Amino acid sequence: MLEHGVLIVGSGLAGMRAALEVSEDPDLDVALLTKVHPLRSHSGAAQGGIAASLNNSNDEDSWELHMYDTVKGADFLADQNAAEILAREAPENIFELEHWGCAFSRLENGLIAQRRFGGHTQPRAVYAADRTGHALLTVLFEQLFRRGVKVYSEWYALDLVLRDNVCQGVVVYDILTGQIDAIAAKAVLFATGGYGRAFQTTTNAAASTGDGIVMAYRAGIPLEDMEFVQFHPTGLQGSGILLSEAARGEGAHILNAEGRRFMEDYAPERMELAPRDIVARAEQTEIDEGRGVTDKKDSVFMDFSPIGEERIRYALPSVLHLARDFAGIDPLQAPVPIQPTAHYSMGGIPCDVDGMVRLKDQNDTPIVGFYAAGECSCVSVHGANRLGTNSLLEAVVFGRRAGRAIRTAVRDLAPTRIEEGDLQRAVAEVDRLLKGDGPERAGAIRQELREVMMIDCGVFRTRPQLENCLSTLKNLQERYQRIAIDDKGWQFNTDLVEAIELGHMLEYAEVIITGALAREESRGGHFRKDFPTRDDQRWHKHTLAYRTDDGPRLAYADVNMQPQYRDPFPLEERKY
Ligand code: FUM
Repeated sequence: MLEHGVLIVGSGLAGMRAALEVSEDPDLDVALLTKVHPLRSHSGAAQGGIAASLNNSNDEDSWELHMYDTVKGADFLADQNAAEILAREAPENIFELEHWGCAFSRLENGLIAQRRFGGHTQPRAVYAADRTGHALLTVLFEQLFRRGVKVYSEWYALDLVLRDNVCQGVVVYDILTGQIDAIAAKAVLFATGGYGRAFQTTTNAAASTGDGIVMAYRAGIPLEDMEFVQFHPTGLQGSGILLSEAARGEGAHILNAEGRRFMEDYAPERMELAPRDIVARAEQTEIDEGRGVTDKKDSVFMDFSPIGEERIRYALPSVLHLARDFAGIDPLQAPVPIQPTAHYSMGGIPCDVDGMVRLKDQNDTPIVGFYAAGECSCVSVHGANRLGTNSLLEAVVFGRRAGRAIRTAVRDLAPTRIEEGDLQRAVAEVDRLLKGDGPERAGAIRQELREVMMIDCGVFRTRPQLENCLSTLKNLQERYQRIAIDDKGWQFNTDLVEAIELGHMLEYAEVIITGALAREESRGGHFRKDFPTRDDQRWHKHTLAYRTDDGPRLAYADVNMQPQYRDPFPLEERKY
């Protein structure tokens, strides 16, 4: 058995930021474990920016305004104590990243440049062209390397071990050798990313399969607000590859088949810069009502011409290349067909503002030594819909806070232990998958799952659709028990890893659907055509889903309306 004082699982921005913070104490033994090389973490795919009220492009911004935009964008489901922290702590986090060497784009006067983004009333997106996530990731990796933090690269966590609400560590699988081992740690932080891969059209990396979320769920932790999935309005038609919202921030228009900027019908004030849930629904409505473009009529156009070539080349180089390489269309010459694409997971592992995992419906009972940060967590700072550029911010703000909290807490925590039985359970499950000789294959099941989730649990939902989705899912879960893996070896068996990931996807998809079926209202990213309005009376509350043998059991918890430094923002109708 391996042992560390602190183990961080996941090497995106949140995980690396937390690891760095823990490593401030040279006496603490911190390690980071990741199923992909750290620089391939999905944070690297974030393009357009990271929010902070720096006031560099104007002087009207403030943390209060940033907080208000976040709470309103979240359709008032965000915990206001968390939204306040996000907005208040944003500037100091940006300066810290800059001092570590992050090459942010600049204004003529040398200050960090800022641009507009959907749902933000001020230009507050700090950016490094349209490669912001990648720029941040490399800087953090460099710092991690400098501090000598131990990295288990291409190791896969299989199980979270809890005993009497105290975390003991994780069972892990070394992908290279195939060896299964245990890592005991007094504190474990999950920063394992989101769950967008359950949808056919997605911006998410292949690795975004909700692993940490399901490990927590299986260990008895409820999952919070999983029904809230964000569909980004500007995915490339067909592939769903992200074309950054920064394009709209820079001035791109969205047009239907009639060549009309249809957002004037849906969000006349903010137009293309309304929050993503609203723009994605507007696009889907245009498509569903026959005003889509291309032969398939399954998309609308993004027109880059209002931006101008010089600015596109400077501020949107990746978008330019992505459209050329993956759609064969040059945005400098022609509009690009786009469609809604699953992008961000608002739900996840329930935790407080210091990353500590808590049972929010049980007097906030803490799970001692277990922390979460970034997209796998639900603080909940994004509520029912996240604003663009708030995810990179969440990762660094709450990664740093969790790292600090762990650094203090771990001094008082007793050594932990993983029993042989914990290890053997994981070995037996891997063995079962490897020895399986049934007729089913993971690839086919995964494909059917992603299709049905996109069609029946996508931008728009109804009860019959969700019921169909659930019964299809049950059938897929049953077929999963009869899969065979063609590669029977132990070394670098990606076939096996993908089969385990599929098991996770089948498990969390059930939680998404169950939460969506129960929530008979429309709020943020969750839109029920049969319940098209927000119902604060019944549904201004967080969903918590516990795992049982009969499927998820739902409980609910209050939304935090107690910011520390100002009055809470009262619920209001959300108009743009
Ligand atoms: O569109 C984008 O550049 C994505 C940014 C985000 O999700 O925050």
